[in-house]
Amino acid sequence: MSSPDVSGNVAAWTKANADHTDGAAERQWSRDEIEWGVFHAPESTIGCIGDVAGLDVVELGCGTAYVSAILAKQGAKPVGVDPTPAQLATARRMQAATGVEFPLVEASGESVPLADAAFDLAISEYGASLWADPYRWIPEAARLLRPGGRLIFMTNSNLAQLCSPPVAGHVTEQLQRPLFGMYRTTWPGEQGVEYHLPHGEWIRLLRAHGFEIEALHELQAAEDATDPVYYDYVTADWARKWPTEELWAARKR
Ligand SMILES: C[S@@+](CC[C@H](N)C(=O)[O-])C[C@H]1O[C@@H](n2cnc3c(N)ncnc32)[C@H](O)[C@@H]1O
Repeated sequence: MSSPDVSGNVAAWTKANADHTDGAAERQWSRDEIEWGVFHAPESTIGCIGDVAGLDVVELGCGTAYVSAILAKQGAKPVGVDPTPAQLATARRMQAATGVEFPLVEASGESVPLADAAFDLAISEYGASLWADPYRWIPEAARLLRPGGRLIFMTNSNLAQLCSPPVAGHVTEQLQRPLFGMYRTTWPGEQGVEYHLPHGEWIRLLRAHGFEIEALHELQAAEDATDPVYYDYVTADWARKWPTEELWAARKR
């Protein structure tokens, strides 16, 4: 069952689509390789995903679906899932423009109307991984995956969240929030609800749903990285010293 937070998140992402993500879609869909996080770490330097040719992939919180599009270009068979109609409309517009087509499903990552054990890979890049309740979407990812299937997701790093002041602004070099009890986060003046967990809790949750953890990649900005223009809550200088994002890989037993 989906959480009551989904409608607020859909409203927030309808606005984000009009403000930013629809306009960014051409550039993002033109890529042939996934670039992780706000400092664009190329997947080839991280080596998290591997060969996806022929894999059935579900993207949970696909947004404008550029991650699925890149995987489709690499031979995967993706299905994009997202609860925000405006984001899926951009994805459909880009499918028509590029000819890269795959199914899109309007649903929360917490309650996905797709069959059990139908996928080899479940992936989320700042999608369900940040915007859905982990106690609801991790069980769904486990249900959707075949035995041996992989779950790969990226979200804000634990440390970036702990160093974020209560009023949205730049990530600082001081701890601003307690680790214990971190879970559901709202920002003043924003409709959306984000979810963050301590690492120990992610590990417990993943293992409870049958996952073995393969890797936790802590993403670092490159030496020549410059400050992000749009997602400017963190500087390149900060991200060369601490991870802005964390990228988890787990395998279903
Ligand atoms: C940053 S965008 C995501 C990702 C995609 N990689 C992109 O950049 O287009 C976040 C997405 O999470 C979606 N979202 C919000 N609540 C969700 C939920 N409960 N389950 C799955 N996705 C959700 C939003 O609709 C939005 O499209």
